[in-house]
Amino acid sequence: MHKYFTSPSFLLKGIVGYLAYVSIAPPWLAAWLHKKRGVQIGNYKTVYIAPNVLIDTSFPEHVTISDGVYITRGAKVICHTAFTPLTQEIVGVEYTIGDVFIEEGAYIGVNAVVLPSVRVGRCAIVGASAVVTKDVPAYAIVGGIPARVIGD
Ligand SMILES: CC(C)(COP(=O)(O)OP(=O)(O)OC[C@H]1O[C@@H](n2cnc3c(N)ncnc32)[C@H](O)[C@@H]1OP(=O)(O)O)[C@@H](O)C(=O)NCCC(=O)NCCS
Repeated sequence: MHKYFTSPSFLLKGIVGYLAYVSIAPPWLAAWLHKKRGVQIGNYKTVYIAPNVLIDTSFPEHVTISDGVYITRGAKVICHTAFTPLTQEIVGVEYTIGDVFIEEGAYIGVNAVVLPSVRVGRCAIVGASAVVTKDVPAYAIVGGIPARVIGD
């Protein structure tokens, strides 16, 4: 296990992340807690992150959420893949990280999953249960697995 995952700061970030996961009100509280654990958030008072939203538990500092973003219940924003010891022997690394950006005014629907190295463009809408594997253009509406443009 990489030492990053056993450090006290990792544990502390995990506890704050758990508080964010269950926080209901005021509406900015979850965004503030995520910001405290390292997620790159500007004006947290403009960002709404619902309860039961998971934002990368291991490398929150690699997720950027711009002003005016809404992330609704059950959505997951993931920026890393951690490999098992046996898989590490094949791929040659313990984990990979891909920065995620959710740009101003974007909306992430219920239970959507945003995967590493994805940029969700300005005012884009990610539909319920979408799995976003590629960049979402600004003002686009995407849905499905993998997510495709279904409107704008
Ligand atoms: C993505 C979304 C915004 C699209 O709404 P819309 O523009 O009114 O789209 P429509 O309902 O007219 O559907 C347009 C097409 O997209 C498809 N579609 C709609 N939502 C979809 C989704 N989440 N995933 C995949 N396809 C979807 C429809 O089946 C339809 O396909 P068709 O043209 O082949 O018939 C909406 O369906 C959605 O998922 N909203 C998120 C709701 C949510 O998470 N709320 C959280 C509240 S806290």
